Amino acid sequence: MKVEHRPIGFFDSGVGGISVLREAVKLLPGEDFVYFGDSNNAPYGIKTVDEANKLTFEAVDFLISKNVKAIVIACNTATSAAIINLRKKYSSMMPVIGIEPALKPAVELKREGQIIIMATPMTLAESKFNNLMKKYENQAKIYPMPCPGLVELIEKGILEGEEIEGYLRSKMEPLKKQGVAAIVLGCTHYPFIKKVLCKLLNNEVPIIDGSLGTVKQLKRELIKYNIASERKEGGKVDIYNSLNNDEIIKLSYDLLK
Ligand code: DGL
Repeated sequence: MKVEHRPIGFFDSGVGGISVLREAVKLLPGEDFVYFGDSNNAPYGIKTVDEANKLTFEAVDFLISKNVKAIVIACNTATSAAIINLRKKYSSMMPVIGIEPALKPAVELKREGQIIIMATPMTLAESKFNNLMKKYENQAKIYPMPCPGLVELIEKGILEGEEIEGYLRSKMEPLKKQGVAAIVLGCTHYPFIKKVLCKLLNNEVPIIDGSLGTVKQLKRELIKYNIASERKEGGKVDIYNSLNNDEIIKLSYDLLK
């Protein structure tokens, strides 16, 4: 099979990366995609970096076995833990794209108040994020907000209702007094609860996620490696999950819509 006809591999610790995949399907409708979610081992955000790195390499091996031509680590946590090592191993063969909290567009809005970065504890603790923070800390007030437990709810398909609202209210309420300039969704699961966040913030605060930026980067890399599909439509999506049950596969396809 010609390289350009091979699928693009997407990976996340669970169903979160579907929020990035759905942007990719829109931007690159002629490409085929293989998605692997490791819900059996989610969440990664409270594991050690070594564990997350090892699990990410195993997931990438699975995608390689599906003959992918490019890899997108659609998980901020796995990107923090493994992207440098993955690029060392694979970038001579294929593009390896990661995702990080979209702090730059939030700073550029120049709004009053704090920029809240919602992410997993590992993403916020790792050097990738700390370097990003150093770059912008003189230009804006940045408030890193670890959200342990939130990924678990989303993995169960709980995207609205009192449990999610109560969780987010307890996080956001104490910060409202100082003013919220923007929210950055630094975990690919969180776009699925954006509606609840908007409601809690009375639709007054911009909520930013990095999916589109990541997918644009994927497009540039496909062109650079000269492996973009020449098809303009008709691409397909295959979803796999380490949980291997019908519910998680159904939830994944539902989230893609
Ligand atoms: N979607 C992952 C991320 O972007 C979730 C991490 C987790 O499994 O804790 O960080």
